[in-house]
Amino acid sequence: MSLYLSSNVLTLHSPKTRSFRNCSASQFINQNQRFLPITASITPTVEPPSSFRGKNASEINVVVVGSTGYIGKFVVKELVSRGFNVIAIARERSGIRGRNRKEDTLTELNGANVWFSDVTSLDVLEKSLENLGLPIDVVVSCLASRTGGVKDSWKIDYEATKNSLVAGRKRGASHFVLLSAVCVQKPLLEFQRAKLKFEAELMKEAEEDDGFTYSIVRPTAFFKSLGGQVELVKDGKPYVMFGDGKLCACKPISEQDLASFIADCVLEKDKINQVLPIGGPGKALTPLEQGEMLFRLAGRKPNFLKVPIGIMDFAIGFLDFLVKIFPSMEDAAEFGKIGRYYAAESMLVLDPETGEYSAEKTPSYGKDTLEEFFERVLREGMAVQLLFKLQIM
Ligand SMILES: NC(=O)c1ccc[n+]([C@@H]2O[C@H](COP(=O)([O-])OP(=O)(O)OC[C@H]3O[C@@H](n4cnc5c(N)ncnc54)[C@H](OP(=O)(O)O)[C@@H]3O)[C@@H](O)[C@H]2O)c1
Repeated sequence: MSLYLSSNVLTLHSPKTRSFRNCSASQFINQNQRFLPITASITPTVEPPSSFRGKNASEINVVVVGSTGYIGKFVVKELVSRGFNVIAIARERSGIRGRNRKEDTLTELNGANVWFSDVTSLDVLEKSLENLGLPIDVVVSCLASRTGGVKDSWKIDYEATKNSLVAGRKRGASHFVLLSAVCVQKPLLEFQRAKLKFEAELMKEAEEDDGFTYSIVRPTAFFKSLGGQVELVKDGKPYVMFGDGKLCACKPISEQDLASFIADCVLEKDKINQVLPIGGPGKALTPLEQGEMLFRLAGRKPNFLKVPIGIMDFAIGFLDFLVKIFPSMEDAAEFGKIGRYYAAESMLVLDPETGEYSAEKTPSYGKDTLEEFFERVLREGMAVQLLFKLQIM
């Protein structure tokens, strides 16, 4: 989903495997519980099915859906750099508002075998994977609704993701890596419910078939979601936060570190049939702490604009009222709820014993820090920084 959260302020079996290294890219072009606490392991670790795990990376065919998304692109690069045969499924017009043409996508996903298809149609996706003529070992899904709207969330976070499971399974996939989100542990939003429904069906699939496994990755906040105010602060504007800036906290993880963790899930046995909440290195940071860091790095005196959270509650109440009269406004109301959620809910593991968010129980991974990210955005701007990061990978 491409909703930008500025420091929590919404700114809106088994066919025989063969490698396809020799195929050129152009060949491919032609065609309600309130709390659901995370436990480190939903089902016990199982001995992995032997299928693809004994092979060399170059012989393992990994399909990535959601390959053109913010995290998907990093995941494709990481898998390619680890030597897997990566089949990246993409739309002919991809990216935010479909601004990327086929040629842009091929450049962006260089090293992968890009296959243009439609994940929202099971028939089309199945036919595409059939035409690929290769067995599939692993499916990695980085799909997400780009809007977070009610219908689109169910269409992408549930249905399209399910299509990729069904179509992948038909071509032999025996492992599925799902990019989910830590926030699904407290599902108050439609996209969270859609993700949870798919998670449950994925787990059931593994329960019913010993030869099938999954890894569900539930990250905390991405750097990009916290960088929306960096340039504003640099330009002399105040840092906007809700309440006293301590309503919530997160352990931000960089896109590259998350992509690396997701790539680990393809082969690592300790990640089989696990729900894996994951954050970045260092302590959890509240919006206040993120703002203080930003002013220090920008060499400016702290200047905070504290917005009462009640304002959001009022706006959501009003929007909910309007939806009763104008059902077409359901997405506007949902966006309000998304903003409210991230303004007050921590992106940390909910401790099942206390019912409280716990930084200690939120595992850390990687080496990139938010401070380094803020420094780079201050120096180079958000757009340049993100582009640069993809190019140097
Ligand atoms: N932002 C955060 O801080 C954060 C934190 C934790 C977890 N997460 C989770 O991370 C996940 C991925 O986030 P992201 O920022 O990488 O998402 P993103 O940039 O919005 O990418 C979404 C991907 O899904 C594809 N997609 C969306 N609608 C589609 C459609 N109708 N047909 C075909 N493909 C479609 C997009 O393809 P196109 O390029 O063709 O549109 C794109 O590849 C989400 O599930 C999110 O909940 C986010």
